[in-house]
Amino acid sequence: MPAPAFDAIPRAQLPALLRTCPKAELHLHIEGTLEPELIFRLAERNHVPLPYPSVEALRAAYAFSDLQSFLDIYYAGAGVLRKEEDFFDLAWAYFERAAADNVVHAEVFFDPQTHTERGVPIEAVIVGLDHACRRAHAEFGLSAKLILCFLRHLSEEAAFATLEQALPYRHHFIGVGLDSGERGNPPEKFARVFAKCRGLGLHVVAHAGEEGPPAYIESALDVLQVQRIDHGVRCVEDPALVRRLAASRMPLTVCPLSNVKLRVFDTLADHNLKALLDAGLCATVNSDDPAYFGGYVVDNYLQTFAALPALTARDAWQLAANSFEASFVPDAQKQAWRARLDDVFAAAVPAAGPA
Ligand code: ADE
Ligand code: ZN
Repeated sequence: MPAPAFDAIPRAQLPALLRTCPKAELHLHIEGTLEPELIFRLAERNHVPLPYPSVEALRAAYAFSDLQSFLDIYYAGAGVLRKEEDFFDLAWAYFERAAADNVVHAEVFFDPQTHTERGVPIEAVIVGLDHACRRAHAEFGLSAKLILCFLRHLSEEAAFATLEQALPYRHHFIGVGLDSGERGNPPEKFARVFAKCRGLGLHVVAHAGEEGPPAYIESALDVLQVQRIDHGVRCVEDPALVRRLAASRMPLTVCPLSNVKLRVFDTLADHNLKALLDAGLCATVNSDDPAYFGGYVVDNYLQTFAALPALTARDAWQLAANSFEASFVPDAQKQAWRARLDDVFAAAVPAAGPA
């Protein structure tokens, strides 16, 4: 379907449009939605001691120098999640915020190894999250699916063991992903477990080209045969790779606020989102770990558009359209959301004056 004529929409209308338009969120770690207030509430409920005296002191510790410095604090925060109801409460809080941001579809990452390594049964993790997904659909009409991520700093054997533990709950997740520290943990480390997952009919995605080099994006494509690249912003260092990603419409789930907090870019004004769109890539905007990076998905759109004046109304529409194109839902559902999106933008096009 061709893009409707949105060039006439004044830039001043963009914030309202970015808030109200339907959108999908495809790169969101549920453990990364754990707000400091909920950390304190769950710590009290589960009698877990915290090394911070207050919510403010904890929030003040959220100053990161790179991905690993963030992951250290993120895995520590997840230590308050112990029971099925904790996972429900965590995900429900996210879905309330997502619905307010007009997210109509979310594909949500979870890291079972972060919890099973602490003795939490995988059943508590998956059943608690699934319960929240069902309720989000019932109450908000928000379709929510789960993607199980393997921690790449752990071994492939550990990933296989996690897959075995998760298979009784196979009907509760639609795919697998690969996250955690990228440097030194290339996609090919997980070649066999991803082959097994593909054979099981699971969707496959992987973080690549966040801190890691463009070669990691290539091996995610060639070895893991992923259907989306999470982040992928370092692809611009390899023009042939950019052409390949554009020609195949391989989605990139870009997370602008995350990229600045983790020092992938110095500032939002330096972000390459506009260049990715101009190169014809299927880029999307997402929040990654919003409790840690200062904003949920609409904050990511708003702050990025404020920082990059070259982004237009057509880009805003394209990013939301890409989020549906890149999602793992049937084509008829994609088309229905796309029609709703087009209607919202069409209503913002100024009426032509008298001839
Ligand atoms: N886990 C949570 N957030 C992540 C990120 N941005 N990169 C890799 N692993 C993650
Ligand atoms: Zn991520």
